[in-house]
Amino acid sequence: MDARDLPAALTSAPPLIVVRDLSKRYEMGSATQRAAGQGQIVQALRSVSLQIARGDFVAVMGASGSGKSTFMNILGCLDRPSSGSYQLDGQAVELLSADALAALRNRAIGFVFQQFNLLPRASALENVELPLLYAGVKPTQRRERALAALQRVGLGERTGHRPSELSGGQQQRVAIARALVNAPQLVLADEPTGALDSHTSAEIMHLLSSLNAEGVTIVLVTHEPDVAAWARRRLLFKDGTLDETGVRSQFPSDAEITSKNWNLTPINKDGAP
Ligand SMILES: Nc1ncnc2c1ncn2[C@@H]1O[C@H](COP(=O)(O)OP(=O)(O)O)[C@@H](O)[C@H]1O
Ligand SMILES: [Mg+2]
Repeated sequence: MDARDLPAALTSAPPLIVVRDLSKRYEMGSATQRAAGQGQIVQALRSVSLQIARGDFVAVMGASGSGKSTFMNILGCLDRPSSGSYQLDGQAVELLSADALAALRNRAIGFVFQQFNLLPRASALENVELPLLYAGVKPTQRRERALAALQRVGLGERTGHRPSELSGGQQQRVAIARALVNAPQLVLADEPTGALDSHTSAEIMHLLSSLNAEGVTIVLVTHEPDVAAWARRRLLFKDGTLDETGVRSQFPSDAEITSKNWNLTPINKDGAP
């Protein structure tokens, strides 16, 4: 079996994400205009339905303004849909209170952003400890787990550095360590390589691939076909709709990946970097 085929145990499990007829409308304009029904409606998502299997690695593509971030924000429980349903790990998200939603988000989801979103005055270690602080984990354990996460991303020697003392790629590694520190089932990455050069991008994708090989489900937004090539499945958004012709369930061949001239070997059978 190819190391990147979905493990049978995972495919037979119920999907991690089930989305049905998801729509999102934004109403623009002043409160008065909106009250008078004169606000302008932006339909950011139109009746999107899909399932994402546990352990999958999905690239979300589409032109600027096509609804990618709106979709990711809903998957991440950062925003609610205007209509439709979303089940994460068997839980109907729309039925949860704000507190329960925040708890689910903190426990089950790790976020990675284009601009890293690290606290500038905090060290790498403190940045990674943050989600554990929110989760009420005790200081000694926080430190231990944050350190392990930083070691996992290859930054065990940089724990005291502040973001400004790290390269872009290293900052994104800190952000990935922060996303991982709660051992989430799902990592959502919105253009994680958008601010990085192509070599550093490939390193970050290599890291995400190895996490995926360890069982973390990854959904990532990208504009770059080279980055999308690391994913197992590609989704294409067009004007708020999911273009099913953009779905490709075939993982690209090793030749296809190495032909990009990245001088990196694709993940090995154990998924180790
Ligand atoms: N908070 C918001 N208020 C109003 N309109 C928004 C908001 N967020 C996104 N939109 C609009 O929704 C559409 C989809 O945006 P977005 O999901 O950010 O697209 P993408 O991430 O693919 O560039 C765009 O037309 C955008 O202008
Ligand atoms: Mg976006």
